[in-house]
Amino acid sequence: MARKRTTPSATPAFTADRVVIGDCVAEMARLPAGCADLVFADPPYNLQLGSDLTRPDQSRVDGVDDDWDKFADFAEYDAFTRAWLTEARRCLKDDGALWVIGSYHNIFRVGAILQELGFWILNDIVWRKSNPMPNFKGTRFTNAHETLIWAAKSPKARYTFHYHALKVLNDDLQMRSDWTIPICTGAERLKDAAGRKLHPTQKPEALLSRVLLATSNPGDLVLDPFFGTGATGAAAKKLNRRYLGIERDKTYAAAAKKRLKDIEPMAEADLQVTLGKRDEPRVPFGHVLEAGFIRPGDILVSPDGRHRARVRADGSLVIDDFSGSIHRAGAHVMNAPACNGWTFWHTEAKREPIDLFRREVRRQMATLTA
Ligand SMILES: C[S@@+](CC[C@H](N)C(=O)[O-])C[C@H]1O[C@@H](n2cnc3c(N)ncnc32)[C@H](O)[C@@H]1O
Repeated sequence: MARKRTTPSATPAFTADRVVIGDCVAEMARLPAGCADLVFADPPYNLQLGSDLTRPDQSRVDGVDDDWDKFADFAEYDAFTRAWLTEARRCLKDDGALWVIGSYHNIFRVGAILQELGFWILNDIVWRKSNPMPNFKGTRFTNAHETLIWAAKSPKARYTFHYHALKVLNDDLQMRSDWTIPICTGAERLKDAAGRKLHPTQKPEALLSRVLLATSNPGDLVLDPFFGTGATGAAAKKLNRRYLGIERDKTYAAAAKKRLKDIEPMAEADLQVTLGKRDEPRVPFGHVLEAGFIRPGDILVSPDGRHRARVRADGSLVIDDFSGSIHRAGAHVMNAPACNGWTFWHTEAKREPIDLFRREVRRQMATLTA
């Protein structure tokens, strides 16, 4: 089951919050193993465009025909994919996770290779574009989505997932795997001096924010090996995550740096996410005793006062010739297979459920780690 960390884990020392210009495979090879909490990768699509695409009025469509997207054949693309995924995997902490975004041109190949390398797919997310580019020739369906693969490093990894926070983000409905988000337009879209799109595939910050909010924590290091205009860095900096971007193209890297310079992180208090019951730290009954809220020799009673149990120094309850944990003792008197001892047992004097003390211990723990 998913892990919900609330404090950042230790990262081997190196400088974060920067953009590195270079080839991602070579640059990742220089990073310490296990430095990243999350990898977000938007690799070349390998679109393999044959000729210029035109609209019905013969104007040229500004598609992805850049050199960075050109590979001789599938074999070359696969070898490149294997190389960067291998390095990304080495950079990831064991409990870290990987996101890769792509289209039908590449995502199936990337998905198969990452499984071969040992990644464990958790979900595929369909990013449904509310304003996609039409299919100008009318020969196929409008290509209105991209796919994101979310994968843990292994089936046993205790990856981060803020289930409850995402549910709140979605008006208290469980967040689904299809996300409708507009493509990047307007003021967010970076332009060159002539007013043209600076980058053909700049991703919307809203998409990255959702990914980071759901699967990382403040202070985590997010590594993006195909940084482009730095959408990942922008979302990371706003959400108070650390980032490391690698980009081969100097113009894109410079634009990303400029964009990131002006971003202010949100206040810490605004970044606390909603936690569910399962996210809360486990507090054994023994801690309540050690904290002095209940003492050995105290009497606990059932909600209706009919059953009484005496507390022993090891946290067990004694009822006649039975002894056991608060849960087993509750189940015993109820003659039930199981019982939540925290809500069943109450103090004798004030008839308060002992769960109140567990909450108090949790509050003290949170103050200590803050
Ligand atoms: C699909 S785009 C990423 C766009 C980015 N997510 C954004 O929102 O701006 C892929 C980027 O990877 C870069 N790239 C391609 N091959 C690379 C490599 N081997 N190492 C580093 N960057 C590379 C390209 O220059 C391009 O900017």
